[in-house]
Amino acid sequence: MDSQLTPELIQQCRAQFPALAREHEGQPAIFLDGPAGTQVTQSVIDAISHYYCTCNANHGGQFATSRESDELVQQAHQALADLVGADDWQEIIFGANMTTLTFAFSRALSKTWSAGDNIVVTRLDHDANVSTWALAARDQNVEIRYAAIQQDDCTLDVNDLKSKIDDRTRLVAVGLASNSSGSINPVKEITSYAKQFDAQVFIDAVHYAPHRLIDVQEIGCDFLACSTYKFFGPHIGVLWAKKEILETLEAYKVRPSSPALPDKWMTGTQNFASLCGARAAVDYIADLGRTLANDGSLQRRSALQVAYQAIADYEDELCQKLLEGLASIDGLKVYGITEASRIQQRVPTISVTHSKLTAKELAHELGQRGIYAWDGNYYALELTEQLGLEPEGMVRLGLVHYNTADEVERVIAALKEILEKS
Ligand SMILES: Cc1ncc(COP(=O)(O)O)c(C=O)c1O
Repeated sequence: MDSQLTPELIQQCRAQFPALAREHEGQPAIFLDGPAGTQVTQSVIDAISHYYCTCNANHGGQFATSRESDELVQQAHQALADLVGADDWQEIIFGANMTTLTFAFSRALSKTWSAGDNIVVTRLDHDANVSTWALAARDQNVEIRYAAIQQDDCTLDVNDLKSKIDDRTRLVAVGLASNSSGSINPVKEITSYAKQFDAQVFIDAVHYAPHRLIDVQEIGCDFLACSTYKFFGPHIGVLWAKKEILETLEAYKVRPSSPALPDKWMTGTQNFASLCGARAAVDYIADLGRTLANDGSLQRRSALQVAYQAIADYEDELCQKLLEGLASIDGLKVYGITEASRIQQRVPTISVTHSKLTAKELAHELGQRGIYAWDGNYYALELTEQLGLEPEGMVRLGLVHYNTADEVERVIAALKEILEKS
């Protein structure tokens, strides 16, 4: 069994993403903007289109298209349950995006907090996992505590985080991987520590999902959110929570919507077509696993395990190559883990600055050369503030498995050329 992502297989993967055929002045464009949203597969586009062509109808009707639509929606719940490792498709809540879902959920959850309680967030997280909770805490007169980062490698200071948890801690909100420095947080360790104090744990897995397999059972958390547009799907947010909590917690909802799960938490009309696309995104990854395992009958979760292992191995190598190339550029500062021996503690999202150009100028120059990379703080505001990098921020070079070693070489050459002439 060959479970490696060979260059041939990567080309087969790339061929499934129509947008990757884009050229810039006669050369293939290089998409390093995955952390802000990856490209989508033809199968995702087809699933969305198929929905509109065949069974575009609202939820719960007594006629064929509505029934078929509901069936497809349930399949989307099941696909996402398989992706995060949930026991039950009813534990998957869909919504517009992770931020909107988390705002709605924080409003409901925070009603269970009282004055004198506290919650813990981190200075490494995207603001969707900071302000959502900070505002809820403010409204409930609950203290908010910020876990520090280690500035030298932009990782979470886990000891500091633990020191902030006590008997009055109701929630710990932490990311699985930083969308800025790429650092992976030891969320299993953090969760088991928080559980000693009966604190609930909310995990932001948005940035982790394209790179490694999520496993809510293994983590032991209570809630986890991700967004399918970060892993090859459409713009949809996903929230997983333990069934007993979803059942007992009061949801803000209109009358007479169903109290049954998952409808209880899915307010308004969903983007049904995109839910079909979300399922197709999960199936794209699962099919990759089946190809790698040479076993077309592999169950979805097992297939995802195979695919993500290969993706992680491939991305680690690519990340290492990019880090080595960046290290060869005079004056370029990399924020995050750089040592080869620690490559598995990060995902291949690398933020850089250079004193010769602002982040915006550098991203612009890359853009001129067909290299699409973000600049700024990417909403990881606490981190850029800690690093003293506001308001310019950094340039983010975000790799996913559809990027290649050739692209990394082109990026390094472009950076050298831009900085030499600046
Ligand atoms: C780590 C992380 N968390 C949360 C979000 C917010 O996700 P959404 O756009 O689905 O609200 C993002 C988006 O960039 C992110 O990278």
